[in-house]
Amino acid sequence: MDDGNALRHAYGGANGSGGRADHPLTARRWSVRAALPVSYEVVIAPDLIDPGNDTLAERAFGDSSKRRLVVVEQRVLELFGDRLIGYFEGHDLRVELVCLATAEISKDFEQAFRVVEAIDDFGIDRRNEPILVIGGGVLLDVVGWAASLYRRGTPYIRVPTTLVGLIDAGLGVKTGVNHAGHKNRLGAYHPPQLSLLDPHFLVTLPRRHIGNGLAEIAKIALMRDPRLWALLRAYARDLLDSAVGQACGQHGQDLAGTGDEVIIRAIHSMLAELEPNLWERDLNRAVDFGHTFSPTIEIAALPELLHGEAVAIDMALSCAIACRRGILDPQTLAQVLDTLSRLELPLAHPVCDQALLARGVADATRHRGGRLRLPVPRRPGEPVFVEDVSRDELAMAFMLVRDWVGGNLAAC
Ligand SMILES: NC(=O)c1ccc[n+]([C@@H]2O[C@H](COP(=O)([O-])OP(=O)(O)OC[C@H]3O[C@@H](n4cnc5c(N)ncnc54)[C@H](O)[C@@H]3O)[C@@H](O)[C@H]2O)c1
Repeated sequence: MDDGNALRHAYGGANGSGGRADHPLTARRWSVRAALPVSYEVVIAPDLIDPGNDTLAERAFGDSSKRRLVVVEQRVLELFGDRLIGYFEGHDLRVELVCLATAEISKDFEQAFRVVEAIDDFGIDRRNEPILVIGGGVLLDVVGWAASLYRRGTPYIRVPTTLVGLIDAGLGVKTGVNHAGHKNRLGAYHPPQLSLLDPHFLVTLPRRHIGNGLAEIAKIALMRDPRLWALLRAYARDLLDSAVGQACGQHGQDLAGTGDEVIIRAIHSMLAELEPNLWERDLNRAVDFGHTFSPTIEIAALPELLHGEAVAIDMALSCAIACRRGILDPQTLAQVLDTLSRLELPLAHPVCDQALLARGVADATRHRGGRLRLPVPRRPGEPVFVEDVSRDELAMAFMLVRDWVGGNLAAC
C-alpha cells in the first residue's frame, strides 16, 4: 500500500525506471516526498498584560517549566516595561528579558545574530520553551528569522505592538532581514506557534505609524474587501486620530466599533489571502499589491520612508498604471489617491526616478519567476495582474500621480 509518504525507489538498469522495487538493495534512484503540516492560531487578545488577564500566561507559558526567553522592542519596554514585568511576576513566570532597539536601517544579519546569541546564552529547551517576541514588524521579522536559524527551527510566539505588526507582519510565516541594500533578502518561512494580537498597544503608537499601518490595510482592502475600503474612505481621518478606534476619547463608541471592524476585517482578509499560498508557490499574489516598486523605494529612501509609506507610493503608481491601461476608472483612481492622502501617506518621493523604478521592475520580475505580475485593482476587491510595464509607461503613470498631487488630474 502506498501511503504517499513512503520512500519510493526504482530498479537500477538501463532506463532506471520502474515502480517500487521489492528489495531496496536493487534501487538506484530514490524519490523523497513529505508534506509539512502547518498549524498556528492567530488570536485577538485585548488587555494582554493586564494583571487579571490569564491569556498570555496560559497560552504562552502553558507548560510546567514556566521559563521563557522574551525579546522585547526597546520602545515597548520603555512604555510597558513596568506592567510587563509586573505581569510576569504576578503570574510566577520565570522570564529572561532581552531588549532590542530595532529600526528598518538596522534590520540586518547582525541584529538577528544578537538574538541567536541570546537564545544560546539562555540555554533554551527548544521543545518546550518557545521564544516570546513582543514588538513591531521589524522585531517580529528579526526574531522569527533568528528562531528559524537556531537549531534549524525553534518555536516562537508573536505579540505585535504596531499596526503593521497586528494586521500584517504578525500573521503570516515570513521572517527575514535586509541584506546588501535589498529588502528582506535573507529570510525563511518559519511559522509562529501562536500570534496574540492586542490592539490596545496601538494607543501609544505615534500617528505616523498608525498611517503606516493603514497603508497596509488599504492594500488588502483594495485587493479583497470592498466594505473595508469603504470604511477607510469614510473614516480615514478618524481612524488616524483615534489610533484605529483604540484611543477614542471624545470620538465615542461608534468609532471604537468601526476601528474594531477595520482591524478584524484586515486580519481576516490578510489571512484569507495568505493561508492558501503560505509558501508563495502561486506567484500571482494579490498581497504583493504595493510591494513591486516599494522594496527598492523604501531601501533607497532609508531612513526617511516607513514601510507603509513606500507601499502607499507603490499603490498610487500601480493604480495610475491600471488607470492608463483602462483597467481602473479615473474616479476610483482619484478616490485611491485622495484616501491615501487623507491617511497622510506620501504619493511620491524624490528618490523615485526612472532608473530606480526600472530597477524595482527588474527586481520584482526576477523574484516572481520571470514575469512582473503587477497586482492592480480593477475595482475594490477585484485584483488583476499586469505584465510588461515599459519605462515610458512608468514615467507617464508617475506624472499622472504628480499631476493629481499638484491638483491637476489629467485624463487617464
Ligand atoms: N513578515 C511579514 O509578513 C511582514 C509583513 C509586513 C511588514 N513586515 C515588515 O515589518 C516592518 C515594519 O514594521 P513596523 O511598521 O511595525 O515597524 P517597526 O517595527 O520599526 O516599529 C515602528 C516603531 O514603533 C515603535 N513601537 C513599537 N510598538 C510601539 C507601541 N505600542 N507604542 C509606541 N511605539 C511603538 C518601535 O520602536 C518603532 O520605532 C518592515 O521591516 C516590514 O518589512 C513584515
